[in-house]
Amino acid sequence: MARPLIIAPSILAADFARLGDEVRAIDAAGADWIHIDVMDGHFVPNISFGTPIMQSIRGVTRKPFDVHLMIAPVDPYLESFARAGADVITVHAEAGPHLDRSLQAIRAMGKKAGVSLNPATPASVLGHVLDRLDLILVMSVNPGFGGQAFIPAMLDKISELREMTRGRNIDIEVDGGIGAENAGEIVRAGANALVAGSSIFKTQDYAAAIKSIRMAATGVAV
Ligand code: DX5
Ligand code: ZN
Repeated sequence: MARPLIIAPSILAADFARLGDEVRAIDAAGADWIHIDVMDGHFVPNISFGTPIMQSIRGVTRKPFDVHLMIAPVDPYLESFARAGADVITVHAEAGPHLDRSLQAIRAMGKKAGVSLNPATPASVLGHVLDRLDLILVMSVNPGFGGQAFIPAMLDKISELREMTRGRNIDIEVDGGIGAENAGEIVRAGANALVAGSSIFKTQDYAAAIKSIRMAATGVAV
């Protein structure tokens, strides 16, 4: 059975001076999840925000918080992100010495566990942790910044992961450079969750932007 399509706007591209209103606006515009990019200036060459900011917007929406941790080491911070209201917690495959343990820790707190793969990281790193996974986040840009161009070579990795996870309850999410122009091919390759920052927040009409991505992804008017 096909998995439901998820559109997850990334608040990294939002106007931080009006963050609460921006989150309310994408909620009302039809976002399925809120994608939250946490960067530490060490694992990736940029710093975004941490739990206080995340907690400050937890009260403005009931939509799931899809928390993408671009931090290393990640283990010491898992509990604080769980407490601050994360629903899905995604760590990078390289963010600690014991990926299996990190995933167990996330699930032990009752959260969904995800692993993100950098563009150069092979799908095969997940071969022995599939039982511990709820989500795989395929980076289609090098993490650190919004507004970069989608790397087409990731389409093959998405297909490979869809095969690897066949019959399992695992979402395949793709992150970076996504808009209505490429959502169709990304979903056809096997993804069911799409992160989009610039292509939603840099427009005037968030509902129209989400709708056009959804239409491109499903091939049907929504
Ligand atoms: C990149 C982040 C992405 C990014 C997506 O490190 O993980 O979520 O904000 O932004 P766009 O859609 O602008 O590429
Ligand atoms: Zn992200």
